[in-house]
Amino acid sequence: MQKNVVPHQFSVGRAERNTMKGHKSLLLWFTGLSGSGKSTIANAVEKELVNNGMHTYTLDGDNVRRGLNNNLSFSAEDRTENIRRIAEVANLMVDAGLVVLAAFVSPYEKDRENIKQIVGPENFVEIFVNTPLEECERRDVKGLYAKARAGEINNFTGINAPYEAPVNPDIEIDTTQLSVVEAVEVIMNTIENKLGKE
Ligand code: ADX
Repeated sequence: MQKNVVPHQFSVGRAERNTMKGHKSLLLWFTGLSGSGKSTIANAVEKELVNNGMHTYTLDGDNVRRGLNNNLSFSAEDRTENIRRIAEVANLMVDAGLVVLAAFVSPYEKDRENIKQIVGPENFVEIFVNTPLEECERRDVKGLYAKARAGEINNFTGINAPYEAPVNPDIEIDTTQLSVVEAVEVIMNTIENKLGKE
């Protein structure tokens, strides 16, 4: 905690906001290579949650890097700062009573561990979108793998920067085996009891 900064205790808290909304709040963190399908699956899960009357928000790498984090590069240090800021924003949103979906490459184990500490392990669900590099590269939705192979992008995850795969994720989705609909089903079944929907 910062010296000489004393947190104010507000009278409306998370519990009251959760009661108003009729469900608990949670952070669903999607990690995986660029083009692995994180945003697609997060988007489909969010639709399902909203259809079930839940209050949600999605944070996504390509969007947050155009705004809040537009001063950060893809160096290891800047990725750590990227993830730290997003975890703090997600923490505020969880406190606000939302089910937050966050889709970021987040390649470093220590950064993902830090998210868990910031939001609290009980509020954190790690979802590893495990699509093999060859498949991400074959899909190359944004054309970035071709650029990285051509030497036009430095520090591109999977090509010339590391991806540390989660060892013990809460959920693992192999997109070469599961459709988006099936992935949503697996995720919804796993988080159902944590949402405590009334
Ligand atoms: S993270 O590593 O810091 O978590 P983040 O999820 O915010 O990454 O951003 C990843 C997105 O930025 C990718 O989906 C891709 O579209 C784009 N991108 C641009 N350069 C890189 C790079 N060097 N490595 C990975 N992704 C990159």
